[in-house]
Amino acid sequence: MKFEKEINRRKTFAIISHPDAGKTTLTEKLLLFGGAIQTAGAVKSNKIKKHATSDFMEIERQRGISVATSVMTFEYEGFLINLLDTPGHKDFAEDTYRTLTAVDSVILVIDSVNGVEDQTRRLMEVCRMRDTPVIVFVNKMDRDGKNRFDLLEEVENELKLSLHPMTWPINSGKDFKGVYNLFNKSLRLFAASTKGEADDTVAISNLNDPILEQKIGDRDAAQLREDVELIDGVYGELDASQYLSGQVAPVFFGSAVNNFGVQEMLDNFIRIAPIPRSRQTSNRLLEVGEEKFSGFIFKIHANLDPKHRDRIAFLRVCSGRFERNKYFHHVRLDKDLRFSNPYSFLARSKDVIEDAYPGDVVGLFDTGNFKIGDTLTEGEDFYFTGIPTFSPEIFKELVNKDPMKTKQLEKGISQLTDEGVAQLFTQFGGNKKIIGCVGDLQFEVIQYRLLQEYSAACEFRTLPFYKACWLTSNDPKKLEDFLRFKQQNSAADKDGNPVYLAQSEWFLNTEITNNPDIVFHFSSEVHK
Ligand code: G4P
Repeated sequence: MKFEKEINRRKTFAIISHPDAGKTTLTEKLLLFGGAIQTAGAVKSNKIKKHATSDFMEIERQRGISVATSVMTFEYEGFLINLLDTPGHKDFAEDTYRTLTAVDSVILVIDSVNGVEDQTRRLMEVCRMRDTPVIVFVNKMDRDGKNRFDLLEEVENELKLSLHPMTWPINSGKDFKGVYNLFNKSLRLFAASTKGEADDTVAISNLNDPILEQKIGDRDAAQLREDVELIDGVYGELDASQYLSGQVAPVFFGSAVNNFGVQEMLDNFIRIAPIPRSRQTSNRLLEVGEEKFSGFIFKIHANLDPKHRDRIAFLRVCSGRFERNKYFHHVRLDKDLRFSNPYSFLARSKDVIEDAYPGDVVGLFDTGNFKIGDTLTEGEDFYFTGIPTFSPEIFKELVNKDPMKTKQLEKGISQLTDEGVAQLFTQFGGNKKIIGCVGDLQFEVIQYRLLQEYSAACEFRTLPFYKACWLTSNDPKKLEDFLRFKQQNSAADKDGNPVYLAQSEWFLNTEITNNPDIVFHFSSEVHK
């Protein structure tokens, strides 16, 4: 295997959660362990403030700040860890889905009080599509949460994920006494602290040891023995291969804000989380250890500041070595490009880098060459598959307000949708342009950017759709007839794929039942 040493020491992952479960806090604690930051509070700028929901410029400004921390690279115990940030704001969920295509594993944070929440479900769906290995961190154990067994059951049922406890909590809320480490048989006692020092750890090789009573009292010692016996009986040893194939998720309990239970998780993470892996392409399986470089663009960030009209394309390296100033092949444009200022995202500053290896993310200044899913190689033509597009949730017709600027509007909307800001559909048999977004904010962003960057004025007219489904059929005639018959609800996506726009779940289910020869897909691949 080429570059074996570099590949074997890299772990590229993302932390995902429903907003407020503790993602930012956990990120910060991990960076403290990695020495990437020195003080607590340093990552806060990374987070879109909750209250700024109606002011998209403010949100974009904060997103601008967060570009620098989009990828946080730090070293821990000889490993090089790339932590890819995902936006917490729901309206930017598409960004998160795409970031998940660039990681090798995820840590899912669940709030012990609220359990599984909306955003958790959707994010897990994306992970499941790719069989991404998941570690679960049950956070906020210092608050009165749900019963632990009930919580695990809820997570298993709702997320369709088998769990495997690695630590086990002793109570929660004000009675929270700590966690028992099931794999190295030790007890970590809880003392609320934000300093990040290890709390009292006691090795307990035999749970019958009376030291347990001394440390946590008779009642809790008895309960722990009972719980551990039950857990051992049900779960046994963690099967690493089941974790790596995304079937079983190890679970850790803790309190991020108190820096409790975080190190146990991090130590296990570096032990079991996958290193960069081989990936499927449109032609063949690409081995991570191949000598030749390849990578793909999973995110494009545009700067809204008119003084700095730069776009940054985020490239995930999949094989070989990325080198500064070397010509690489842009497959879609069939053009060779080189990059004189590629930068890495170290936690504190943007640094120009000379080279990068599989698992790394490189920021490339872009003047409009890239769109999501683009592939760079050393000459071979292929695309990485498994980069999904999901249905938008809000649909609006794009109305041109200035017929003199039609060309600018078309160019603008084409480029913005290449960046992944929104999805563009064209009405079947007509040329009505339909924009689909996950959140309302995007429409404001589009309107603003079209005017500022392309001098094109537009308006949006609300449409009554709630979901887009991509259609395929073995019978082209049936599909054609359906599209014509349902013209009001039919459109083509940007690549010309037929799409059905449903007004409601009822309509959608009716069409699915009435048209057994047509397959309704809830996501589409950027490259098939
Ligand atoms: P997010 O990125 O997932 O949206 O969540 P974030 O880390 O910002 O955490 C949301 C809130 O939960 C924060 O409080 C944070 O301090 C708190 N929190 C995180 N971990 C724990 C924990 O283990 N126990 C408890 N009790 N709280 C926790 P906030 O008041 O919204 O913000 P702040 O003023 O503390 O920054």
